[in-house]
Amino acid sequence: MSHEARSLPGKPVAEAVLADVSERVAKLKAQGVTPSLATVLVGDDDASAGYIRIKQRQAAELGFDSPHRHLSGDITQEQLLDVVAELNADTSVHGVLIQYPIPAHLDYDAALMTLDPDKDVDGMHPLNMGRLAVGLPGPLPCTPAGIEALLAHYEIPVAGREVVILGRGATLGRPLAMLLAQKRPTANAAVTVVHTGVPDWERYTKRAEILIAAAGVPGIIQPEHVRPGATVVGAGVRYEGKRLLPDVAEECAAVAGAITPRVGGVGPTTVAMLFRNAISAAERAVAAR
Ligand SMILES: NC(=O)c1ccc[n+]([C@@H]2O[C@H](COP(=O)([O-])OP(=O)(O)OC[C@H]3O[C@@H](n4cnc5c(N)ncnc54)[C@H](OP(=O)(O)O)[C@@H]3O)[C@@H](O)[C@H]2O)c1
Repeated sequence: MSHEARSLPGKPVAEAVLADVSERVAKLKAQGVTPSLATVLVGDDDASAGYIRIKQRQAAELGFDSPHRHLSGDITQEQLLDVVAELNADTSVHGVLIQYPIPAHLDYDAALMTLDPDKDVDGMHPLNMGRLAVGLPGPLPCTPAGIEALLAHYEIPVAGREVVILGRGATLGRPLAMLLAQKRPTANAAVTVVHTGVPDWERYTKRAEILIAAAGVPGIIQPEHVRPGATVVGAGVRYEGKRLLPDVAEECAAVAGAITPRVGGVGPTTVAMLFRNAISAAERAVAAR
């Protein structure tokens, strides 16, 4: 008899998170404060401009101000840093998003380093990574936080279970490992991270109760790498033009107990977490007045 895993779409998770954000926006507005998420786009990359539009539309729907700075693709690093400094100093701006990637002659990490960590809605500033590592509150990296929220939303137990993450990249695998190992009911897992330094990584993925693909290598996870009945989260993707190629092969649904869909899995939760970080930043700014 053929088996089809339970599907774990990201949209209902995002809707639940955004409903909470929306209530928090209303509370701030009742205190006379409009939360504000500024976006910075450098150059004219179509995909990046599209992502910014999605975020601005979402911001408007939630009642955020979303001042936008569209900078020319040939600006200097100093000009970019000046814009970041301006947004840091602007007390009406609570969160800042610098859309990645930026043109190759500019240094994204150096720009991020100058951003006020409390306005870092991506949760990627090294200080926020440090806060995550030592368990201090702060903006969480959006995709890892979205994955924790997705597992919690579908009531998939994580605490005490064996989680294996394929990939140790700075945006995904590494912070996710830190997050899911934290002492918290929706985390508290036995986390193993595998990568190219572990050539027989399937030895680990095959015993995972929760397997998270975070490699960015299309089809790297095949059914034989999955423990029967496991929960499989596909976060790694590669784009070929507009085509999205997930890490997790479609056939894995016949082995897994639950699995994120190939499109609309982790992605929507990432955007929701951006706004959760932004409303938290606004609340902190109000509390500190
Ligand atoms: N869905 C979302 O919203 C979202 C958000 C952020 C990122 N992503 C996706 O997540 C993926 C990872 O992002 P990242 O920034 O963390 O990427 P990254 O820095 O390139 O990390 C990729 C990781 O995968 C490992 N890996 C690659 N090929 C492998 C192989 N053949 N065998 C075993 N391990 C392998 C690498 O191992 P080594 O360390 O040994 O090189 C590395 O640790 C990307 O596809 C990205 O598009 C998705």
